[in-house]
Amino acid sequence: MPSRSTSASDAGPALDPLVVNDFGRRLRAWYRRSARDLPWRNTRDAYRILVSELMLQQTQVSRVVPKYHEFLKTFPSLAHVARATPDRVTEAWSGLGYYARARNLHRLALRVTSDGTRRRAKLPSEPHQLRELPGIGAYTAGAVASFAYGKRAALVDTNVARVLSRVFAPALSPKRPRDLTAIWRIAERSLPRTGAATWTHNQALMELGALVCTARVAHCHRCPVRVVCASAGDGSPG
Ligand code: ADE
Repeated sequence: MPSRSTSASDAGPALDPLVVNDFGRRLRAWYRRSARDLPWRNTRDAYRILVSELMLQQTQVSRVVPKYHEFLKTFPSLAHVARATPDRVTEAWSGLGYYARARNLHRLALRVTSDGTRRRAKLPSEPHQLRELPGIGAYTAGAVASFAYGKRAALVDTNVARVLSRVFAPALSPKRPRDLTAIWRIAERSLPRTGAATWTHNQALMELGALVCTARVAHCHRCPVRVVCASAGDGSPG
């Protein structure tokens, strides 16, 4: 963990550990009460989680759900992807668009295949190892490491960046690269102590961004963390 700083910088703004803990506890309790039952939340299979995260990168949840089931029926494991042609994988991706995701998934499957016969393929568990694979950026690496392997790894996508900046640092803009680095530091410093709680914490951050603290409007009246939020009541903060 980086040490706490007293002024805003790439290390992130100063955070009060009591507020951070309170935020996390309220957030996770809300998730346990209110989360949607989504298929990729009922598995710890790294491949299934990777497929869901790749699909969700550019596509809405409601469109991803049926495609996710269909794709996994065709390709039940990463080894199945490795044994297919790139065209077959892209074909199974049809309707989702952004086909680079499918092509990268095929390249990734070949990369992690451990034997010449392509019968076994296993994703690594550490974010830095995952990031070396085709199509996996910092967000997806954090998602697979925390959701599949129970690692205490942070993740920041557009939703999470919006939630964390509104709650802890309204002056930061996720659109500025330097600010985004600071938001990643906030995400790391607000993780719970254990990997097990990290699963819920990261899912909850995304759920809050999707359902309550949305891009268009922040529904502060029904927000579980409003009492610790620096932007609470602003309605449509930046
Ligand atoms: N968007 C990206 N990852 C997600 C997840 N695990 N659940 C819901 N929406 C998401």
